[in-house]
Amino acid sequence: MLFPDYRPRRLRQNDAFRRMIRETKLSVDDLILPLFAVSGKGVKNPIDSMPGHYQLSTDNLIKTSKKAYELGIPAVMIFGIPDRKDSLATAAYAKDGIVQKATSVLKDKIPGLAVITDVCLCQYTDHGHCGVVDGQIIDNDSTLDLLARAALSHVQAGADMVAPSDMMDGRVAEIRNILDENDFSNIPIMSYAAKYCSAFYGPFRHAADSAPKFGDRRTYQMDPANALEAIREVTMDVEEGADIIMVKPALPYLDIVCRIREEIDLPVAAYNVSGEYAMIKAADKMGWIDGKKVMMETLLGIKRAGADIILTYFAIEAAEELIT
Ligand code: PBG
Repeated sequence: MLFPDYRPRRLRQNDAFRRMIRETKLSVDDLILPLFAVSGKGVKNPIDSMPGHYQLSTDNLIKTSKKAYELGIPAVMIFGIPDRKDSLATAAYAKDGIVQKATSVLKDKIPGLAVITDVCLCQYTDHGHCGVVDGQIIDNDSTLDLLARAALSHVQAGADMVAPSDMMDGRVAEIRNILDENDFSNIPIMSYAAKYCSAFYGPFRHAADSAPKFGDRRTYQMDPANALEAIREVTMDVEEGADIIMVKPALPYLDIVCRIREEIDLPVAAYNVSGEYAMIKAADKMGWIDGKKVMMETLLGIKRAGADIILTYFAIEAAEELIT
């Protein structure tokens, strides 16, 4: 059908028609709010490059989480900023570690809010890499046990789901095994399956104090040029027992989100990362864009590409827009 017989504008002429034919709808159910936990009381350290986000002590973490919960956001994702770092990231799997403590208080105070924990070593190692270092090498296999111990300690503290973000080979199976052996076969794993080596993580590394002290993450995170490899990575994680698979970052990788959605029949998450958030906030502050509209268009775009779940620092702001 061609013009003048077909006129696409017929169904765009009023809001009722536009609503009726809208193909993608964003909902608060789709959103996960990432939060940064630190020790102490009454702490709320602003993160300059992520306006509206803070390093929060548990009391303040509860306040923000309550707000998210009341807006209908189903889950938060907890990142820990420990008091001490060492070569084996011991604070990552300590019983009284920051994520473990924050998780147990959150589950106690807001039981209906799902707590997902990020499982990685980079905030906890003195060198800032996501695995154990042997000389200049990030050693894969000796890292797996530490990641598994971290995941188990989070779940023992009450985490509802764990999300490994380290990109070591074989970690999903290792985590699945340790959880099953400890009677946690009901706890799902959301794996950062296709995680690219991205400059968009800049603000996060500042916020979480997790930048590598030497080299970069190219030997474990994926090359931004590769798409077929993402399918292999995701397929591996599915076979190892992942329940949800994630693509990260979101915006420069929407083609990957779309392909993975078509190839895999598990829920797909996309992480709208810190740099994506910072760019919108900065341009909005300059008065160059309408930040709220760009936020909603961005999240809708990620959903339209195929994401079922969106991890985003905009979760609270977007939820406020969605419920009004
Ligand atoms: C830890 C981790 C990172 C992010 C999430 N988990 C940083 C990294 O891999 O360097 C980035 C999140 C963001 O930028 O919002 N491995």
